[in-house]
Amino acid sequence: MNADDMKRQAAEAAIDYLPRGGIIGVGTGSTVNHFIDALAAVKGRFDGAVSSSEASTERMKRHGIDVLDLNTAGGLEVYVDGADESNRQLQLIKGGGGALTREKIVAAASKRFVCIADESKLVDVLGSFPLPVEVIPMARSYVARELTRLGGNPVWRENVVTDNGNLILDVHGLEIMQPMKLETEINQLAGVVTVGIFAHRPADVLILGTPQGPRVVEP
Ligand code: A5P
Repeated sequence: MNADDMKRQAAEAAIDYLPRGGIIGVGTGSTVNHFIDALAAVKGRFDGAVSSSEASTERMKRHGIDVLDLNTAGGLEVYVDGADESNRQLQLIKGGGGALTREKIVAAASKRFVCIADESKLVDVLGSFPLPVEVIPMARSYVARELTRLGGNPVWRENVVTDNGNLILDVHGLEIMQPMKLETEINQLAGVVTVGIFAHRPADVLILGTPQGPRVVEP
């Protein structure tokens, strides 16, 4: 079974976590694309979705799923999204697809966060995956110097502009032993919009696709 089959398996298992009625949050990425495709078959069960990216919005609309603005939707029952890495406390690195800011907002507005991934995403210590940081364009060099001071090696993701009009720095070489502390520190740098550590608001459930079938991890 390849990684894409495992992503599809986790995505399909997440359908069981949907509420009857209410509005759901939908994330971004190749795993979520499988989830959106599976959602199409059950779209009568919920009242609409809030999306974390233009790409997911477009895919949901193609399936005839109602996409709502978060400001009018209010609180969300559940948020389903992928991750680049998860530790066993379900603290995550996200933002490989560049959608981290909207993902963090939708996760914060949701009662429950169901994370879907293939089994390779579960790690002991976060940081092998380069940590994405969304920055205001004029702050790029300043923030990069500060991230170097924190022990990382930031690399500008050139030719990428986020849905919010900002830039991404990918920070290599970190071994994130205290995810909450580092999330707070990086978020406090002037010019940082969002850091891709999801530790203050971790996932509540992680569904991993594995060759033996979906595996549910709870902290
Ligand atoms: C998007 O910005 C990310 O946070 C994704 O959730 C993450 O990169 C996982 O993507 P895949 O599902 O494509 O592995």
